[in-house]
Amino acid sequence: MDIPDGHGREIEYSERTRAMQEDAMRHVLISLSHYEDVERSGIKIIERGEGCYVFDADGRRYLDTFASLLTSVCGHHRPELHQAMLEQMRRIEFYPVYHDCLTPVVIELAKRLAALAPGDLEVSYLVSDGSDATESAIKMARQYFYEIGEPGRYKILYRRNSYHGASMGAMAATGLQWFREVQPPTAPGFVQVMAPNPYRCELDLDPEQSARMALRNTEAVINWEGPHSIAAIILDPVPGSNTGFPVPPDFYLPELKALCDRHGILTIYDEIQVGLGKTGRWFCCEHWDVVPHFLCVGKGFSAGFAPMSAVITTRQIAGVFQQPGHDFRHGHTFAGHPVSAAAVLAVLDIFEREGLVQRAAEMGAYLRRRLEGLYRHPIVGDVRGLGMLQAVEMVADRETREKLSSDLDVGGFVRDFAYRNGMIIRNNGDILVLAPPFVITREQIDEVVDTMDAGIAAAVEHFHLA
Ligand SMILES: Cc1ncc(COP(=O)(O)O)c(C=O)c1O
Repeated sequence: MDIPDGHGREIEYSERTRAMQEDAMRHVLISLSHYEDVERSGIKIIERGEGCYVFDADGRRYLDTFASLLTSVCGHHRPELHQAMLEQMRRIEFYPVYHDCLTPVVIELAKRLAALAPGDLEVSYLVSDGSDATESAIKMARQYFYEIGEPGRYKILYRRNSYHGASMGAMAATGLQWFREVQPPTAPGFVQVMAPNPYRCELDLDPEQSARMALRNTEAVINWEGPHSIAAIILDPVPGSNTGFPVPPDFYLPELKALCDRHGILTIYDEIQVGLGKTGRWFCCEHWDVVPHFLCVGKGFSAGFAPMSAVITTRQIAGVFQQPGHDFRHGHTFAGHPVSAAAVLAVLDIFEREGLVQRAAEMGAYLRRRLEGLYRHPIVGDVRGLGMLQAVEMVADRETREKLSSDLDVGGFVRDFAYRNGMIIRNNGDILVLAPPFVITREQIDEVVDTMDAGIAAAVEHFHLA
């Protein structure tokens, strides 16, 4: 295996790629891009995909361990999906879900979701992006109380370090300070509560105590704010890749749900990252047998073939908007796009035909077993996650959990190492996060972990971390 001499070693790009990179720098603004990284290693131009692999414009092949930002769960290039989308396009490429009309494919998808979703969730509000879904759920919860004569219930509780999307409402419900701080002031009426963090509790408590403290804090905030002023709480049952999938202790979600139910506070579960098979169950909340009032899905929902997300809610809540004289006052032109709906139906067929949820559970367990072997490196402090969502946190000291100096950018080093060795690995600082396609094989998982192993070894040597 090729050991790099540091972060910045050049990749040889063809003339065509270099021209595209220049055009991209000139004409495209990339979100959340660290332009110093881009300047150093060149914009990656991905041109083609096949299964778990993507190919850059020079034909170099990469095993994508993050499934195109947690979307391509069935792998790239699925002709049956192309066919389903094409057939829908031939019928009608677009007609909106609006006022008094929609398309048959949208009805079929909503029926299918009602059959899949847990508990009494049976009405879908279909949109496009994850942010549209969380924003819609927040607005639906607030308008629900308006419609039933409780307009004073408008506040939204959200958790520290969470991510719920980029639009103004979704961002106001996002607990990542670095994401919010560039947009002051955020929308009023959003109130932050603690979240448990089994590995990095801000009060340095053990996992159980951290979750107990988060519950006590949430209860205190509810009482402080006034229960009758709070419409809903938004949370991801397992927080996403920003914090490296910290799984809460088993009592936390049921107790939080019971607390909110006692106060009539609606629950919004954001399963954009963690839903639809990623944790080895259809929906992440099924691990704890808790059912929210609104369940948001996106990303892998359409396996990346077309933008599509959904809020699934109860008949009781949706019914309020369906009474004469009422309407859900919200909407997007392309929400519930029929070609996207056809793609999702074909994705669900693939899930069922290929047993992908079960496969995610099995491959996730194998991935986890292999990742635990990385503890042979003293800088590996924690391996955690659920199902296909796994994270490896690197630290300066495993005993004290002291973080590595961010100036070193060890996570970036391992990411760059992997890239030079034909693999895409995402890092959030020194947390390496994995969410591979469900169709990944054991051999490919071996390749992933072997590359990480070599990358971490190279980092230890390069930064003298032994
Ligand atoms: C948990 C969670 N919620 C919401 C979103 C927003 O989704 P989108 O980027 O599709 O708008 C994301 C995206 O990463 C997410 O991870």
